[in-house]
Amino acid sequence: MKHFDCIVLGSGIAGLTFALKVAPRGRVAIITKKNRAESNTNYAQGGIAAVTSKEDSVEMHVRDTLQAGAGLCKEDVVRTIVQEGPARIAELIRLGMKFSEREIPTEPGVHELDLGKEGGHSKRRILHAKDVTGREIERGLLSAVAAQSRIEMFENHLAIDLITTSKLGQGATPGISAGGKAGSNRCVGVYVLNKKTGLVETFSAGTVLLATGGCGKVYLYTTNPDIATGDGVAMAYRAGAAVANMEFIQFHPTCLYHPKAKSFLISEAVRGEGGVLRTVEGVEFMDQYHPLKSLAPRDIVARAIDSEMKRSGADFVLLDITHKPAKFVIERFPNIYQTCLRFGIDITKEPIPVVPAAHYQCGGVLTNVDGETDIAGLYAVGEVACTGLHGANRLASNSLLEALVCAHRAAQRVLAEPLVLPQTTLPNWESGKAANPDEQVVISHNWDEIRRLMWDYVGIVRTNKRLERARKRIANLQEEIQEYYWDFIVTSDLLELRNIAVVAELIVASALQRPESRGLHYNLDYPNPDPACAQRDTVLRKG
Ligand code: FAD
Ligand code: SIN
Repeated sequence: MKHFDCIVLGSGIAGLTFALKVAPRGRVAIITKKNRAESNTNYAQGGIAAVTSKEDSVEMHVRDTLQAGAGLCKEDVVRTIVQEGPARIAELIRLGMKFSEREIPTEPGVHELDLGKEGGHSKRRILHAKDVTGREIERGLLSAVAAQSRIEMFENHLAIDLITTSKLGQGATPGISAGGKAGSNRCVGVYVLNKKTGLVETFSAGTVLLATGGCGKVYLYTTNPDIATGDGVAMAYRAGAAVANMEFIQFHPTCLYHPKAKSFLISEAVRGEGGVLRTVEGVEFMDQYHPLKSLAPRDIVARAIDSEMKRSGADFVLLDITHKPAKFVIERFPNIYQTCLRFGIDITKEPIPVVPAAHYQCGGVLTNVDGETDIAGLYAVGEVACTGLHGANRLASNSLLEALVCAHRAAQRVLAEPLVLPQTTLPNWESGKAANPDEQVVISHNWDEIRRLMWDYVGIVRTNKRLERARKRIANLQEEIQEYYWDFIVTSDLLELRNIAVVAELIVASALQRPESRGLHYNLDYPNPDPACAQRDTVLRKG
């Protein structure tokens, strides 16, 4: 058994930022299921939204966020995160992160931050490192972590389940006050699969942070890398934490369509710099859907593309930036340019075939703006959490901002609480009579079935009938997966399958509980928002 003061699950922007900030308090373990850089963060393209220009203001950023959120954002949370963003960005720059700059046209030789524009933003406010912002953030944070002797990194370690006092039958834990949750269910550690040895290890700590990111892999088509299997939401739900607003899955309008390309995003910043959406026949269509045309909020653009594809029967639409000078396109979007070129598409000369794909989980483990969950000692930050910033639809580039600000706030909260020592004895993982898996095909089949049914029945456009169908199928699959889980020795594929099934169930259950269309949740049986549902979160708790 391993003891730490803090356990951090995940090594994206949320986990790394938090780990760096709590390290002065004691020993920190970062547990991450692949190599340390593999995360959604690493693939972020557009950048981080923050108010850094004289032409912008906190009020404007707050207004844009609330507008995108379609009546479901928590205004106090939005205000806090937007207000604190610039200070956190300044810290990133002090850590050595390089954001793109441009020469001020009226002052030759003088440079300022080059601010990008994305859908729903009324001002240019996206700080970026060309089109590889996430890679630059991971690089900067990982090198700071490497210099911290109190942080130990466990790569290829997959967290299976949280260990809580209620699961251990300890009930209330008197005298513990972390997060103001005295006497309630408390998280005291984590069971973790060491993927190299195949053994399950027990980690004990006074504080546990879930920073496991989102759940794009629940859907057949996604912009997310393979790590995004919703493990944090599933673990928290199984442990008894409240999970909110899972019906709001954001579909990014423009994922590269190519038989050999897996999950490659074409950044919204391409539209921010003038890229135009066209049908396969070359006709602009967004003017029929929204006055902001190709730069309309993401939910509207994704639905418009879906509708154009259904109308014409085409497999994709086109994103055209050929009217901009080639030098500008190549310098501003080097990664997109090079990647498309590898697939035989020169984006300076021809339009890019694109389709919508699952991109971001707006709901998650219910927390306040300090990352506190309703389980003492358990914090959640980043895409895994639902703070109330995004409401029914996330404003582009607000997620890196949220992770940064909330990781800082959660760390401050932990540092302000009395130190909670790790428990010295926790039960070992029980494998019972579990045998080696006999038929891997059960896992791969169920994995495919869930992802396809979520795409077909719980996608961009929903109906009650499709949701009901999905609910029944997932219930059947859950039974089969549970049986398999108890009978066989755990593997990472089986654990991830178990998690995507839980998350799929939560998305469907949440969607069925919202009898209206709002933001990203669009149901043809209730095509309009219902004012009675404004400001009403969908909260699910086990049992
Ligand atoms: P992640 O960065 O996803 O990190 C999660 C970590 O948890 C990973 O290290 C993973 O391996 C680990 N993990 C997961 N499960 C387990 C487990 N069971 N055990 C151990 N470890 C586990 N947002 C913006 O604001 N601006 C952008 O420009 C932008 N562009 C994007 C482009 C793409 C292609 C994608 C996919 C997303 C983009 N987003 C963007 C969204 C943003 O990148 C994510 O929301 C954000 O990076 C999430 O950070 P995180 O730290 O919460 O999680
Ligand atoms: C993008 O670059 O289009 C992604 C931005 C985001 O998801 O916030």
